[in-house]
Amino acid sequence: MIVRGFVSHQSGSATVMPRSLIRSNQHFKKAVTRLPLGVTSNFRYWGDDKTIYVDHAKGGRIWDIDGNEYIDYRLGYGPCILGYADPRVDEAARAGMEVGGVFALATEREYTVAERISKMVPAAELVRFSNSGTEAVMAALRLARAWTGKDSYVMVEGGYHGLFDAVLWGTPMEGWDPSKGDPEVAAESEGVPLLLKSMLHMVPLNDANRLESLLQKHGDAIGAYLIEPIMGNCCSISATREYMHDARALCEQHNVLMIVDEVKTGFRVARGGVQELMGFKADLCTFAKAIANGYPLAVVAGREDIMRRIGDDVVHGGTFTCHSVALAAAEKTLEILDETQALETVKKYGQDLQRGISEILSARSIPHSYAGHPSMGGLFFSDTPPTNYRDWASTDYTFYDALALELHELGILVEPDSREPWFLCEAHADGCLDETLQKFEQAVDTTTSQLNGAATSSAG
Ligand SMILES: Cc1ncc(COP(=O)(O)O)c(C=O)c1O
Repeated sequence: MIVRGFVSHQSGSATVMPRSLIRSNQHFKKAVTRLPLGVTSNFRYWGDDKTIYVDHAKGGRIWDIDGNEYIDYRLGYGPCILGYADPRVDEAARAGMEVGGVFALATEREYTVAERISKMVPAAELVRFSNSGTEAVMAALRLARAWTGKDSYVMVEGGYHGLFDAVLWGTPMEGWDPSKGDPEVAAESEGVPLLLKSMLHMVPLNDANRLESLLQKHGDAIGAYLIEPIMGNCCSISATREYMHDARALCEQHNVLMIVDEVKTGFRVARGGVQELMGFKADLCTFAKAIANGYPLAVVAGREDIMRRIGDDVVHGGTFTCHSVALAAAEKTLEILDETQALETVKKYGQDLQRGISEILSARSIPHSYAGHPSMGGLFFSDTPPTNYRDWASTDYTFYDALALELHELGILVEPDSREPWFLCEAHADGCLDETLQKFEQAVDTTTSQLNGAATSSAG
């Protein structure tokens, strides 16, 4: 049997075909004539000759239009918690289609799904649905401002909260000189008004003293503290439990609402998300991704008194909110996550994967560590994981970057940017582990020789 990018042992002797992206490359040339970068999200463009177009996906695997098969550890940046095209969820979604779509009216199912969310996440006393993580965070920030009467807000360096202007800010680390103080805060896109910067404060993760002094100084103007306690867009670098509890107390002291962005961690790292793992309650929290196994649904939820402001004097809504297909998919997905061992399966797969990877790397004396949760783990080639984005900047990710490309060639799809963790789904447990580890081992050896070769030739 000859499979692209895959070593076949069925005929006794292994036959390897290099991965071809001929059709994807041809399609890119056509697509780019109508679509900026040839795609529908900047992050899906991996280069003119590296951008992949999907044919279909099933379980933990994806097939591109060249016929290459990949075990996928990106999972659309996390939504597919059960696996692609899960038959249980898709059947529910098909039934949801019969309901009719969107009506500019509510359905009974909204209550049923909200009930389930409140049961799983105690902080979610009241629930409002949105379409995307971006919209949910936008609503949470508006609510926090309305509740506190304060417009400024705090974000954590390295965090990501979607694509609206207020959160599209970062601290670019290239060229940052720690001796010169904090990294500069910069907009992550042209077109974001500079004016917004005056309302934003950035703090490093896991430094409660910094948060305290900021709130002492500017607490009168700050209404919200927005955090992803496991930074799903920054290799899953995690807050400590202690930091979250300190931050919780500081927010209360200064009348600042804690918004916990669980768009990636929600219904993934535990039934009750990161709040359950770390034992605290947010004032407001946001969910999306895993809630409907990939169907577009998001949630802003939180304390009843705050949430009741919606409809009182805070506006929230949208034409497409609670489409009957996405809502039915969410109902089934949450039922599975709540009532079966799916999340335990995902976690165990993550632990087995990390154990296997560690055996391979330790046998070669390659230092490494993991951050986050096994269901969305960050892999570092250092003895300990970073504790914040500043630390990340000083880790060496050359090996990871080269390894990721090699893994693609072998049929293991991980994000080329080392800041994205590996996302796992229930379907991975169905026969993906050994193949992943075998290919990982091969990729490590190839990458090591490539980098050693490059070092030797540059030394020569
Ligand atoms: C933590 C977090 N918040 C918000 C968002 C934005 O969600 P969406 O892409 O659905 O708008 C993301 C997306 O990756 C995210 O990871």
